[in-house]
Amino acid sequence: MPSSTATDVAIAAVSYRAHLEVLQQRWSDALATTGHALAMVSAGAPANHFLDDQHPAFRANPHLQQWLPGQAEAHALLLIVPGQPARLYCHAPTDFWHLPPEPPAGESGLLEVQAFSTLGALREAAGQAAWKALGNQGQGAWIGPEAPPDDLPVAHNPQDLLDHLHFLRATKTGFEIHCLRQATATAVTGHLAAAAAFQNGASEYEIHMQYLVATGHTERELPYPSIIALNQHAGTLHYQHYDRTPPQPYLNFLIDAGANHLGYAADISRSYASAERDQAGAQFAALIDALDERQRWLVAQVRPGANYGELHVQAHRQIGELLNAFGLIRCSSESAYEQRITDAFFPHGLGHFLGLQTHDVGGYLQAPDGRTAPAPERFPALRLTRTIEPGQVFTVEPGLYFIPTLLEPLRNGASAKDIAWAEVDALLPYGGIRIEDNVLVTPEGTENLTRDAFARAGA
Ligand code: GLY
Ligand code: MN
Ligand code: MN
Repeated sequence: MPSSTATDVAIAAVSYRAHLEVLQQRWSDALATTGHALAMVSAGAPANHFLDDQHPAFRANPHLQQWLPGQAEAHALLLIVPGQPARLYCHAPTDFWHLPPEPPAGESGLLEVQAFSTLGALREAAGQAAWKALGNQGQGAWIGPEAPPDDLPVAHNPQDLLDHLHFLRATKTGFEIHCLRQATATAVTGHLAAAAAFQNGASEYEIHMQYLVATGHTERELPYPSIIALNQHAGTLHYQHYDRTPPQPYLNFLIDAGANHLGYAADISRSYASAERDQAGAQFAALIDALDERQRWLVAQVRPGANYGELHVQAHRQIGELLNAFGLIRCSSESAYEQRITDAFFPHGLGHFLGLQTHDVGGYLQAPDGRTAPAPERFPALRLTRTIEPGQVFTVEPGLYFIPTLLEPLRNGASAKDIAWAEVDALLPYGGIRIEDNVLVTPEGTENLTRDAFARAGA
């Protein structure tokens, strides 16, 4: 576990320079603990589609991105030797087909940068530097998607080193928190534009485009493909189509969409009901408000020392209470939880770490030595089982859905009598609800990055 002093230092690291100092310290400790003399971090390279010369958007190894936020390019190698500035070997070809970005500037005493016009020269220089740093000190580590060169004495992605680094990555530096706040603010701008487009009766495709315009993102810059779901599409958790025609009737809208700031992700969900409502529509709109209230309650339970897995269980109990209060079950909320009825209505985890990756690493790790607490047998989709600590950023995203394929086993099972099927079936055309905020843990409790950004935007 990081000592509270190390954690405080990391959170206070508001500048990029201070962020690099934290990384230097973390890597030095991790390498020493796991017995590696150095690390070579490889960006990786894009892979073309089968029989094609085109490739999907490239994302560099997140371990490199953390050192070079927004500037990690394909083929780069970063040599990390404890006690020395990290050294970046980057590819800067003369290329009249594309416009390669300028090499990063570096940071004196912490990050030195050397650019190479050919990959051969880059790899040779990095390899020689690694040999020199290794001297007769044994083995290093190679962290990257592709195998290291045969002649370099480095272990490929050693699990003990990765565990150590992934455990520490959950504590965001001040610089990272700044990036996550910015990403959240950008995403909120998009959410407001999307909500307005929904109020105007737009199609999923039109809402998607409005979101991109408002955030200033291209699709490849999004941290994940936006989920823009009208009506029953809201019941497909990661719905990925963008219908060109608005549905009739036009009932409700679930949006799960993020933004990116220097490689750090926001991940936000909101649900809306249309102003024109029949009885089921009014019930669904009231359910959105009720889930919103329960979501705020769950965020209010977040504090250092609590366990995220227990928060997930509390979320199930909240869902049980909503089902009971809205007359969707005929048993107590307690009984709905015990019979696992709530699992059909809330089939995903309450949330996950957020950072360089939308589903950031380390959610099951309990200590830097790699001890894990896996997802409980009942909740295999839960991505976060860890003790809550200051400096962590995670989502809190309860959902309540009406998904035919999950309801079917209940309909045919022993719990069928405890469900008010007419009332549940009336809500099938609405698909579901998800409310998702990005939450920073502070020593006192939380900073809700998402609600704060909505409030600043006047919403
Ligand atoms: N946007 C994916 C998720 O909420 O986890
Ligand atoms: Mn999420
Ligand atoms: Mn999401």
